[in-house]
Amino acid sequence: MGRALERAQTHICIIDYDQNAEEAIWVTERLRSEYPDGYIFGVSASSEPQRIIAAMRAGCAEYLLKPVQNERVLEAVARMEAKQKEKARSKVRGKIITLLGSKGGTGVTSLALHLALELAERQWKCVLVDQHPALGDASLYLGTGRHQYSFYELASNTDRLDQELLQGFLLHHDSGLHLLDSPEAVDAIHRAPPPAVEHTLAFLADIYEFVVVDCPPGLTDVTLACIAQSDQVVIVMTAELPSVRNTVRYMEHLAKLGYNSSSIHIVLNRHSKRGPLGDDRIEKALGCPISLRIPNNYSEVIRAINAGMPISSANKSDFAAAIKKWAHEVVSTNKQEKAKAAAAVQSKVGVLRLFGRVS
Ligand SMILES: Nc1ncnc2c1ncn2[C@@H]1O[C@H](COP(=O)(O)OP(=O)(O)OP(=O)(O)O)[C@@H](O)[C@H]1O
Ligand SMILES: [Mg+2]
Repeated sequence: MGRALERAQTHICIIDYDQNAEEAIWVTERLRSEYPDGYIFGVSASSEPQRIIAAMRAGCAEYLLKPVQNERVLEAVARMEAKQKEKARSKVRGKIITLLGSKGGTGVTSLALHLALELAERQWKCVLVDQHPALGDASLYLGTGRHQYSFYELASNTDRLDQELLQGFLLHHDSGLHLLDSPEAVDAIHRAPPPAVEHTLAFLADIYEFVVVDCPPGLTDVTLACIAQSDQVVIVMTAELPSVRNTVRYMEHLAKLGYNSSSIHIVLNRHSKRGPLGDDRIEKALGCPISLRIPNNYSEVIRAINAGMPISSANKSDFAAAIKKWAHEVVSTNKQEKAKAAAAVQSKVGVLRLFGRVS
């Protein structure tokens, strides 16, 4: 049994249920709540159904009968490793980055699509979600033409959501970027309940390495649903008093809802060194640093919008350089997190033996 467990790539604890059954149940429950990633094997000479049920209810993943046969242990370990792999697979889901403006017109759509494009051009599997409930601009700015169906129609079909259904909703950009469009209607009649929006984003994160969400201004229930699923929330602001005030309010509101400030990033768009409000005054008002500054480059951005041809990363402008820097940061953070997750899965922890010898 010892040798069978030595090679196990999972955390397994053996508890002997024959010494003191009550205490064994108590320890099983404690271990389950304190080490939810580990597995507990109960061992006993008793095959009484009541005993087995009590051990399984307490949290044993397996119940092995004494004398414990090597073969049974190997089978049980294989089952645990398969479970562990499944867990690890679901853990490496893509990153969801939600961008919202501190007020209308701060440049959320322009930044969301340039970030998403840069990620796609670096060969990351990326989808941009235009979450505006009516007349979003992402497909116009990208020059893809509109889709007959929007993100909201996809989110209204959660009961039959799969890769095949998704294909019918996607717009494709030459860069490899995929886009889920906003409804073309002027009135926001296409709605989806927030839990359906959350479910749809989680589904997308299982398929794509990056999901970038372009939100309308305001903390609507749908935007809050996006935030709930996000790994990173980006508040796009400009150096104007109303924008600073709203950013402070958004941050306070998100803190009240329990969001960690480390997952909230402040991007100062249309930045200029000689701007109306200095960076230090803005940071003092916000009580946190500006994560990124995107330079003001109106002529180039509006030219790209009007032509339906986003600014290429090959462009020498300071706008393109700032987007490249941003994408680089997003990618390197993602790589570091993936490396950490992989190391955690690989770490092999020895076997604890509790309550006497196991024969
Ligand atoms: N870095 C920038 N430099 C100069 N102009 C910019 C920059 N970013 C965005 N703009 C301009 O700001 C305007 C609004 O941009 P955009 O549509 O991206 O904002 P938005 O926040 O998505 O607006 P909405 O609230 O309507 O969704 C556009 O005219 C765009 O050209
Ligand atoms: Mg927009």
